[in-house]
Amino acid sequence: MYSIAIDGPSGAGKSTLAKRLADEFNWAYVDTGAIYRAVGLACERGEICATDLERVSELLPKLNISLDYSGGSQRTLLNGLDVSDEIRRDDISKLASDVSALAPVRAYLLGLQRDAARSHNVVMDGRDIATVVLPEATVKVYLTATPQVRAERRRHELLLRGENRTFAQVLSSIQKRDANDSGRAEAPLRQAEDAVLLDTTELTLDEAFAALLEIVRTGIA
Ligand code: DC
Repeated sequence: MYSIAIDGPSGAGKSTLAKRLADEFNWAYVDTGAIYRAVGLACERGEICATDLERVSELLPKLNISLDYSGGSQRTLLNGLDVSDEIRRDDISKLASDVSALAPVRAYLLGLQRDAARSHNVVMDGRDIATVVLPEATVKVYLTATPQVRAERRRHELLLRGENRTFAQVLSSIQKRDANDSGRAEAPLRQAEDAVLLDTTELTLDEAFAALLEIVRTGIA
């Protein structure tokens, strides 16, 4: 069984490239950020501060988060309802990043992520896949790009979803999220020692995909 771990900061192109890679090999694509986003959304709905360790911990056992692949792509369910679109909202990104710093949240979500890789070949993206979730992954890739390029890509992505933000707003929120995700004590974002670094700053999507494919083909050969 193959597992491909793709980590990196937001806007590096992880989800687009990971999904394309999964399609290329006909493997499952697991977007782990979606489950942190689902917890963030649950906090918003429950009017719980996403940095409040005690209240978020109390909320966890009441949540039922599951990933559904029956339609060919990942759908995220929160208490039985499909929240896949709602969790993409920009304000949920911040809440997801906040809850992801809490140890009980990470522990609670670990089994769900490992289960997704247990029975089939997967391409899984996130922040700690190579370092914590799948330390035995067949191939590990650390995908990155400069904050400026990531902010421009993210701004474009939000615009396509009807959310109009200035470059400065998006850059600032990306930088805060980078600091949050890399600076936390629990499973911080970092490149695993045995991960291949792929910097997509100067690459088009097709070029980045070709480079990723090369890394993966070499890794599974
Ligand atoms: O990949 P994303 O932007 O959808 O992730 C949202 C947040 O979730 C991100 O800021 C950090 C957190 N996250 C994490 O801590 N570990 C993961 N494996 C995936 C996401």
